[in-house]
Amino acid sequence: MTSQQIRQAFFDFFESKKHNIVASAPMVLKTDPTLMFTNAGMNQFKDIFLGNSPAKKPRVADSQKCLRVSGKHNDLEEVGHDTYHHTMFEMLGNWSFGDYFKAEAINWAWEFLTDTLKIDPSKLYATVFEGSKEDGTALDEEAKKLWQNFLPDDRILNGNKKDNFWEMGETGPCGPCSEIHIDLRSDEEIAKLPGRDLVNQDHPLVIEIWNLVFIQFNRKKGGKLEPLPEKHIDTGMGFERLAMVVQGTKSNYDTDVFMPIINALEKITNCTYKKDEKTDIAIRVIADHIRTIAFSITDGQLPSNTGAGYVIRRILRRAVRYGYTFLGAKEPFIHQLLPALISVMGKQYPELLTQKDIIKKVIFEEENSFLRTLETGIKLLNKVISSAQAEKKEEIDGKTVFILYDTYGFPYDLTDLILHENNLKIDKTGYDKAMLEQKTRSQDAASTDTDDWTELIDDKVQEFIGYDYLETQLQITRYRKITEKKKTFFHLIFNFTPFYAESGGQVGDTGYIEANGEKIYILDTQKNTM
Ligand code: ALA
Repeated sequence: MTSQQIRQAFFDFFESKKHNIVASAPMVLKTDPTLMFTNAGMNQFKDIFLGNSPAKKPRVADSQKCLRVSGKHNDLEEVGHDTYHHTMFEMLGNWSFGDYFKAEAINWAWEFLTDTLKIDPSKLYATVFEGSKEDGTALDEEAKKLWQNFLPDDRILNGNKKDNFWEMGETGPCGPCSEIHIDLRSDEEIAKLPGRDLVNQDHPLVIEIWNLVFIQFNRKKGGKLEPLPEKHIDTGMGFERLAMVVQGTKSNYDTDVFMPIINALEKITNCTYKKDEKTDIAIRVIADHIRTIAFSITDGQLPSNTGAGYVIRRILRRAVRYGYTFLGAKEPFIHQLLPALISVMGKQYPELLTQKDIIKKVIFEEENSFLRTLETGIKLLNKVISSAQAEKKEEIDGKTVFILYDTYGFPYDLTDLILHENNLKIDKTGYDKAMLEQKTRSQDAASTDTDDWTELIDDKVQEFIGYDYLETQLQITRYRKITEKKKTFFHLIFNFTPFYAESGGQVGDTGYIEANGEKIYILDTQKNTM
């Protein structure tokens, strides 16, 4: 099956189980101060789980663009070095909002994998939550019993809070989960060591493919678990890993999700994949990062110097640097991968096609300017090297290396590589110290602290009345406090509003709200004047 057919099979299967197939939410989040990027399929349904918004349909399924490069779920350092983590990935998910629960979630997951996709059941393992004293939660006997319908006891494993209690972030909806893992090793290797000893042990061929979460709690600020009014299902399956399983490869990158991009990269840089470990890592890093960069741009996040934009800029620079150092790419090249990416993902995500010119332009400009930065860094480094050699030093002080990194964007490992070629070392302790000082400075400046919602009135429907009224009497139904960069803000939710919100490039309404003679102005957030 091609990856497109696999995705479609998932949609068809859940449609046959009466699910509504919905579109992926944007990967870049502007409305949730607890998250910078969408890190799971359930993010867009958070308010439904918490009971703050009614569900439009009780069952939905989708493929969600996710990005795990910051906060609680962050895989960036693994990406490229291994064969199964990504910055951006697609998460296939099915959800029940207060409708079906564990039995259907488990039975359907099993049916889809073993019946629809014909995955060999003898390769599968399930994990269940063992309970946590700290949280006062018990072993998930119910899930265990349900798995016993399909699996022998020695392939149902108990898992701890880290692996089997899923949480979206520091606060928010959460619950025990049951994961499905697969053992893709050869029979010989399996005979030597059973897969059960390798589940959750970071083995590249014994991996988690699907996580079924039984959402029942809200983790409050301060750590307390509060039961939710209803129980929900939230599942997430790694699409790229599933493609690897179905297509019988040993790496996500060997599937048709990545190979067209890798082939294009080989042509552009005149390098060959699977010849040398360092080149391979660089190729995987770039094949992964082009997806993140392109989709961030389509979702409205351009590379920049702050916040989410800075994360994207650094990912792009990571790709440029790997190309520069290991593939000899001294000219902009990443933007040239766009046609290959569109050929793989353009059908499911047509925004890639409609915005292809802008994506290409932004990536080209960024690459170009960073390559110039790299050249400036190399000139500076050459000066540092000459004076160290003249003074017969063996080591370059950490602070200088940090300044090269922080001010000139010149990466540590590149500096290290060049110094090594000149028989020089870095004072690593001094570098780490300078880095730590910088991190503390920026954490203080950027930390966001979000309080729980305080409900004033039980009214979940926020009605937009702006087509008929320009002003109205309204009530605040709930609010929460947000502290960002040492400033305090409030989110207020009204029962009615005549204010049209800014969306899809439109400009939001401006005006004021008034209570007890005091006016608060609501301004155009795009002009950043709020
Ligand atoms: N929300 C669950 C996860 O991301 C399904 O693993």
